[in-house]
Amino acid sequence: MNSGKPNILITEPIPAKVIDHLRDFANVTVGEKGYFQSEENLINEIQPYDALLCMLSVPVTEAVMKAGSNLKIVANFAVGYDNIDVETAGSLGIRVANTPDVLTEACGDYAMGLLLALSRKLKEAEQYLRDGNFKGWEPLGFLGMELRDRNLGIIGMGRIGQAFAHRARAFGMNILYHNRSKLDPDSEKALDATYIEDSGELAEKSDVVSLNCPLTDNTRHLVDSDFLNRMPDHALLINISRGAVIDEEALAEALHNKVIAGAALDVFEKEPEVHPKLLIAPNTLLLPHIASATHRTRQDIGMLAADAIISVLNGKDDREIPNLITP
Ligand code: GLV
Repeated sequence: MNSGKPNILITEPIPAKVIDHLRDFANVTVGEKGYFQSEENLINEIQPYDALLCMLSVPVTEAVMKAGSNLKIVANFAVGYDNIDVETAGSLGIRVANTPDVLTEACGDYAMGLLLALSRKLKEAEQYLRDGNFKGWEPLGFLGMELRDRNLGIIGMGRIGQAFAHRARAFGMNILYHNRSKLDPDSEKALDATYIEDSGELAEKSDVVSLNCPLTDNTRHLVDSDFLNRMPDHALLINISRGAVIDEEALAEALHNKVIAGAALDVFEKEPEVHPKLLIAPNTLLLPHIASATHRTRQDIGMLAADAIISVLNGKDDREIPNLITP
């Protein structure tokens, strides 16, 4: 490492433009795919680095940050930052950044895609054709849920929840939402959205429930067997937030027992592991955490994280770095 420049660890390969951008400014090390998902590897190797640009799969624990005695900033390559111990970072004077805004539209598109695929049974229908079962047009084959006039209940009405709601409105859906706080009247009006204070009541009233909230102590296992039992039996569940918002054992039971009609899951509690009963649950789409996966968005995510690192290492005032998290 060149002693005149700061040292940055990027925990795995990200778009090349972002790496080049950081290389103009610092000595950059890029880890091998998956290697720094191990807390032990990170503890052993973090010490020389001034900044960490990490994936959401990397556990940035108290032990990691204590081992990183030169660390000034941890920038997550993600909007969600439940993998980072933000309190400890604050107490050690380490800044934490995430990547809001840049992935909102990609995630809104993706949630809409999951809803269409699930409600129209695209996965099963395609498999049916590939298996050689398509013998001609069928009047009763693969009848799905039409979205028009159905209630979409969104839990977590931040940027991504609202982006999804706007798209769903264009398909004629009614928007219900549960959130830490009510939206301002203009945003509510733009979506014709109805606030529901009690998440169980939202479960009862929704034909589709979408999880778009961060993972916190309040949202962990928010979707449990009580919640699922309150959903109508034709209802669908979509999760692009974090796996642990759902009690996966309870969801697998609910799907197998037809308590609800289907689920599309982009995230899992113990990624990359998937609950074995979910793997064989009926009408369930399982995806490898790709809601923000477009070329454009992943580059924008990287640039936003990189710029926070550059700003912090250059000593810029925190108030001028919009994507810093305050503990
Ligand atoms: C992806 O899950 C993110 O939080 O950006």
